[in-house]
Amino acid sequence: MIIAIDGPAASGKGTLGKRLAHHYGYRHLDTGVIYRAVAYALMESGHDLRDEAAAVQAALELDPEKFGNPALKTQAAGEGASIVSAIPRVREVLLNFQRQFAADPPGAVLDGRDIGTVICPDADVKIFVVADPRVRARRRTMEARARGEQADEAAVLADIIQRDERDKNRPIAPLKPAADAYLLDNSQLDIEGGVRAAIDIIEAVRAGRSRG
Ligand code: DC
Repeated sequence: MIIAIDGPAASGKGTLGKRLAHHYGYRHLDTGVIYRAVAYALMESGHDLRDEAAAVQAALELDPEKFGNPALKTQAAGEGASIVSAIPRVREVLLNFQRQFAADPPGAVLDGRDIGTVICPDADVKIFVVADPRVRARRRTMEARARGEQADEAAVLADIIQRDERDKNRPIAPLKPAADAYLLDNSQLDIEGGVRAAIDIIEAVRAGRSRG
């Protein structure tokens, strides 16, 4: 089974993806990390984030062993990821890695922006997570502070709004729900509540399928 989870920055889709993978015994891929790793490679080597050739090269040299690097979690890496991810060739290079990950048994949970629309259009269940931008900014700020980083909530909110705009309005693989995605509004839910709501959706889809 493939579970696709999409949604905007800081909507809680990463935590949800991890928890669902654990619940079902599947592997989990946070696809934002891939774009963050490409952006970080450019930042480290002093390249401009809009340098297409350098970005494609970084995508070709992607090393999943480095996905755990805490530097990928920073605001700067997220902002950089939003820029490099708008380069069509970069997305093209990263497509197979994601599809391969999804295809390996026993099943997988992938979260990102275009999983249900582009990467896994035939996913068994698609969930599109939304949450009020102010709630997302509050959560991101708390997470950054918990890591010992300084974070100004108003600046985080401005970044989230700018990132949503860029991710939604790019010509390639824009952030949008697939026609057959289930919407999950995470604004008023804590982590457990979000996980329960997602499992309810998945189980309802499975039950419908076995009846049909
Ligand atoms: O989910 P995140 O904040 O880690 O994602 C960082 C950026 O990467 C996001 O602003 C857009 C890009 N991204 C993407 O274009 N497609 C994905 N499947 C995942 C992330």
